[in-house]
Amino acid sequence: MISSGDETIFAGAGAAGLDRSAAGAMLRLVITGSVDDGKSTLIGRLLYDTKQILVDQLEALRTASERRNGGRGLDLSLLTDGLRAEREQGITIDVAYRYFQTPHRKFIIADTPGHERYTRNMVTGASTGDLAVILIDARKGVVEQTRRHAFIASLLGIRHLVVCVNKMDLVEYAQARFEQVEREFREFCARLETTDVTFIPIAAVSGENVVDRSQHMGWYQGPALLYHLEHVHIASDRNLIDCRFPVQWVIRPGQVAGQGVGPTQWPGAGLGAERGRGNGHRHYRAYAGQIAAGVFRPGEPVLVLPSGEETRIASVESFDGSLPEACAPMSIALRLEDDLDVSRGDMICRPHNRPTVDSHIEAIVCWMADEPVVKGRVYAIKHTTRSARAAVEEVRYRIDVNTLHRDENARELALNDIGRMRLRTTVPLIFDEYRRNRTTGSFILIDEATNGTVGAGMIIEAHMEPVSAERPEVTWDARRLARAGRWALLGQRGATVWLTGLPASGKSTIAGALEERLARDGYRAYRLDGDNLRYGLNSDLGFEPGDRAENIRRVAHVASLFADAGTIAIVSVISPYAVDRQLARSIHDRGELEFLEVFVDTPLEECERRDPKGLYARARGGKLRGFTGVDAPYEAPRDADVELRPCEEPIEELIERLVAALRARGVV
Ligand code: ADX
Repeated sequence: MISSGDETIFAGAGAAGLDRSAAGAMLRLVITGSVDDGKSTLIGRLLYDTKQILVDQLEALRTASERRNGGRGLDLSLLTDGLRAEREQGITIDVAYRYFQTPHRKFIIADTPGHERYTRNMVTGASTGDLAVILIDARKGVVEQTRRHAFIASLLGIRHLVVCVNKMDLVEYAQARFEQVEREFREFCARLETTDVTFIPIAAVSGENVVDRSQHMGWYQGPALLYHLEHVHIASDRNLIDCRFPVQWVIRPGQVAGQGVGPTQWPGAGLGAERGRGNGHRHYRAYAGQIAAGVFRPGEPVLVLPSGEETRIASVESFDGSLPEACAPMSIALRLEDDLDVSRGDMICRPHNRPTVDSHIEAIVCWMADEPVVKGRVYAIKHTTRSARAAVEEVRYRIDVNTLHRDENARELALNDIGRMRLRTTVPLIFDEYRRNRTTGSFILIDEATNGTVGAGMIIEAHMEPVSAERPEVTWDARRLARAGRWALLGQRGATVWLTGLPASGKSTIAGALEERLARDGYRAYRLDGDNLRYGLNSDLGFEPGDRAENIRRVAHVASLFADAGTIAIVSVISPYAVDRQLARSIHDRGELEFLEVFVDTPLEECERRDPKGLYARARGGKLRGFTGVDAPYEAPRDADVELRPCEEPIEELIERLVAALRARGVV
């Protein structure tokens, strides 16, 4: 959750209260689309068709519609546009929240208006969302804004996307058009982390497939939007494992809770009443705040950071008195068994499950200010309940939201840019990766002169990539035996053979056979196998796209060192993303080393039939998530140096072709 301590978005709007009564049943929804895609109409439609509109509102709507369109029926967009107009006079917040409810679920819609500062609005509105609806005009198809919104949604960790292809009435309800838009979108989103994407053809103006199913699109077998929203499973998306309680303020004995603590939903009256009744812990301090993750119960051991002191929870208190337990996102107060020195900005967690405490952070930042951010600038940073100052140590790259390519030469981020930077804070932050926890993994940057929010950040990790060669203090030490000399003395040239392909496509078998063949011919060759490297060097990595990227980066560096040493490195890793393989190649190019990309092209059905480790079966059975080929993408190379089809050629021939390719490059 992007929050600035006190003004926690969503919670500030009363959501915490709702959430408590309907734990997990509420869906936080963000609706995005470029201007004119029909966002207001869709929201109006959802409210109207679910009968959330009061009689007097309806009267006003009738009159306004009459005025606007002269009796052509209700203009539902006026419902939200009206709200927006009201709000824009005040211009205090960028996002409006709408609540509605059906017998199945409660909903909060974050309406993120405007397009001028769309990144900012979207980031603010979507930061706590469970699901994003992306509206696409059926006539226009996927446009830059669609990609931007999908990318930001994925970046913000929104697990579920619903792509509504709107205005189907204007394309004669054509199935072919809908499917074409679906294909366009899927192509783009294959590279995003969001795996749950649903496509629905709608006509918001006439309400088709919004609340009620359309009469005009018999070819569409899926549910209407509302049905999907009511039934999408979100309970398991929440992080209940880590316990994180950022201390918002300390209630000292005798102090009336809730006084002078700014805008917050903390139910202070309850605590006061409790003390009045002579509660046993009356002389103890209590620590108030909103639970960021996990469950807290009296008697459980806790650790306070950054001091590192341990104690137990004496009691968990709320507005209504003591509780047997409390979970995120409740606002509570904790009393501890020992009287420790805990202050605002500290974090209460579990002794064996700690967040990172560090003053160096690597983060993806959405830049929201007119003035670009460059290295060396200093901002105020607000992270959970902690405030500090942060210096920009480096802008690492900017991401092109259309292609998702990283521009590594970018040295600044301008308004609406998204990129990665490294920050150093004046006091250590207590955080998790955003992927793990949206609250403790996010922060905002504030311009100290204007007090305006200039950036919203998502923490990637504490420790950055190994220092790059661009840093003047780090240089490559070549010493006396330069590569050419080494290779000449050893009588062999180094190179990397990079085998990419689906799991069970035969990469490791080919790599093994090639290694053996080369060794028999008297060459030094060494196999770097994905599984083997994940055993040790890469044992800290999983299979999220970011981890895979890091896996590939490390493997590529190791391979290039082997090649430089004069060995033929035979890499076999899935390396499913084209950008990552490109990076592996460029690491070799920079070192002027031979890099042979080999696509092991075995059809998915065949890989799945082989399934030596039974992983496809587990993935199909839902027991393994994010498995390449099943629910994680494999981007087949289009221009590999060599393509091998183990299904069509015997292994001896495959090896012959690889040796021939190495010969053609003068390696053997
Ligand atoms: S890569 O995508 O990062 O390049 P790599 O080749 O190193 O993958 O590792 C793939 C191996 O990890 C597979 O052979 C398989 O045994 C195992 N594995 C476990 N989980 C997954 C997953 N979700 N997707 C792919 N491979 C997985």
